[in-house]
Amino acid sequence: MRIWPLLAVVLIIASCKTSAQSVKTSDRISTQVDSVLALMTLQEKIGQMTIYTTDWESTGPTIKAGYQNDIRSGDCGSLFNSHTVAFTRKLQEIAVNESRLGIPLLFGYDVIHGYKTIFPIPLAESCSWDMAAMEQSASIAAAESAAAGLHWTFAPMVDISREPRWGRVMEGAGEDPYLGSLVARARVKGFQGNNFNGTDKVLACIKHFAGYGAPIAGRDYNTVDMSERTFRDFYFPPYKAGIEAGARTVMTSFNDLDGIPSTGNKWLLSDVLRKENGFTGFIVTDYTSINEMVNHGFAADEKHAGELAANAGVDMDMQGGVFQRYLKESIAAGIVSEKMVDEAVRRILRIKFELGLFKDPFKYCNEQREKAVVFAPAHLDAARDIARKSIVLLKNNNKTLPLTKGKSIALVGPLAADRGNLIGAWSGAGEGDKCVSVLDAFQERAAKDGFKLMHSKGCAIEGTDTSGFAEAVRIGREADIIIAVIGESKDMSGEASSRAHITIPGVQEQFIKALVATGKPVVVVLMNGRPLTFPWIAEHASAIVEAWWLGSRGGPAIGDVLYGDYNPSGKLTMTFPRDIGQVPIYYNLKNTGRPYDPNTKWNSRYQDIVNSPQYPFGYGLSYTTFTYDSMIVTRKDYTFSDTIIATVNVKNTGSVAGEEIVQFYVRDLVGSVTRPLKELKGFEKNKTGAGRE
Ligand code: BGC
Repeated sequence: MRIWPLLAVVLIIASCKTSAQSVKTSDRISTQVDSVLALMTLQEKIGQMTIYTTDWESTGPTIKAGYQNDIRSGDCGSLFNSHTVAFTRKLQEIAVNESRLGIPLLFGYDVIHGYKTIFPIPLAESCSWDMAAMEQSASIAAAESAAAGLHWTFAPMVDISREPRWGRVMEGAGEDPYLGSLVARARVKGFQGNNFNGTDKVLACIKHFAGYGAPIAGRDYNTVDMSERTFRDFYFPPYKAGIEAGARTVMTSFNDLDGIPSTGNKWLLSDVLRKENGFTGFIVTDYTSINEMVNHGFAADEKHAGELAANAGVDMDMQGGVFQRYLKESIAAGIVSEKMVDEAVRRILRIKFELGLFKDPFKYCNEQREKAVVFAPAHLDAARDIARKSIVLLKNNNKTLPLTKGKSIALVGPLAADRGNLIGAWSGAGEGDKCVSVLDAFQERAAKDGFKLMHSKGCAIEGTDTSGFAEAVRIGREADIIIAVIGESKDMSGEASSRAHITIPGVQEQFIKALVATGKPVVVVLMNGRPLTFPWIAEHASAIVEAWWLGSRGGPAIGDVLYGDYNPSGKLTMTFPRDIGQVPIYYNLKNTGRPYDPNTKWNSRYQDIVNSPQYPFGYGLSYTTFTYDSMIVTRKDYTFSDTIIATVNVKNTGSVAGEEIVQFYVRDLVGSVTRPLKELKGFEKNKTGAGRE
């Protein structure tokens, strides 16, 4: 029997109540939530605590077939990996018209750095240090997702990481807790805005809670073990910032932390997240991470794993189907209380109400809007702008860059003409063939400006084939300058993409050696998802541009920087080691009792390499130069609650306008616990004209 009319009556009664000014929105929603909850069977409640992927796409190992039947029977309240208005509408129709209660589905998806208009990978964007730009990119991603039927992004990923071997560093904001917190806040604000009254915002999901960015040996999914102090000081702040910014959902991580898998960690989920930090949204697990507690050796079987997860505070089981299969039994046995289940369902229903889905389950299903919003020209312009801001100039010998207009160019390397890789890992619904490559952008410039442009690939990203070197070297000799675009393929980072050797793959370094041997200036443009080691190139290339994976408009953005139409201002947010043996390497290290001294033996150092990285956190060059006056700090002594105001005059001493990211670090010289040598506590990004302060 369909009971939508009954539900509607209950809701109308509830909304009549709200017309009285004294009832706040949250109270009104609570009443509405309770009125729905009262109609639900235990099975339907557990259904709301269950999310499955569709068979359209997969982002993990287990596919649950027949999710349509689960929607009908009320066994599945949310779906992921389904998008576009046409597809989500079909599934929503099943939920609304064919399930007993007609509770609308929630559609989630990994919109990590753009839905169709793809922005730079988050690690790249973080190098812009530009919170407004990152908020805007998240906001555009939200608008496009919402226009394509989605309600919820599994982002931002805010895991701090000091581990370049770990492939997922590309999804985060690097190694610093202060910067990471600002980025977390900006992204949550961009995705969610102030409310869901309109149709252009989606739920944010802070992930992966917690400590996922510190897997031992950099291997994805591996054990995480750190002191609570390290956790709270360095890894926790971005999660906290995201929650404070109002993120409505949090995803548990795959790893264990201090011996307890996050998905069954009551201290993490109930004490730290909810009690200490006041999180009121719902907690979803990562993909089959309840089931994986059996492999962790923390649960005897899946039923036990489900009990541990529910009792720890998990509200929604992603893809594992454990709650669906066993929770009823665990409740009957008194191991999990129905009261807890009710609380979890309340949290989930509340969010469906906040989104307005009970009022209009098809609120996000409008084909015209989808057509107008997805790939809107203004979105692509914004993608180009933040791509330029994300580029970090690592080396620029003898002002090799910017390029002099009119000079002939040999554009070589496996990534020069590549479009597909530009979108980077975790680009979800992104379409690589719609990207503008470096070659596309240079061809457009050559047609307009009339310079000679030659192109040859030279070699592949991976493999040992050097047969293409000769042609690339030949055109290199003919050109005034060689631009080599090299790096990783997009699948070399992201999830399950750890690398033990973070070198430039294949024969690409050998290729650069052959190009440098021509005696022509060689500009190396890197595309990659993590810090890499390339000491030979660092020493011998004329210029090095860290271009990451810049998304839909990566090619034009690189052209803008290489030609000086945009003066690079990005600064690294992750340390680049000289050698893999230095990892983990990060800027906010401590002094130790035997501080580094390269000239003596008995101190904290290596015998075979210096301690310093190739390029430190906060590093990045510009086409202009800046000088700093001495910093003025108003007072000598401070209490814990005081604000430190520091002033410094920065002058652009070069010949072009430029932006400088002025960074403010502190060191607590003596404390009851040891503190790092440097901790970022503030920064300002300032644009100055040539010769101006
Ligand atoms: C990833 C998550 C992602 C989820 C859903 C997992 O494998 O760890 O980050 O949100 O899949 O696609």
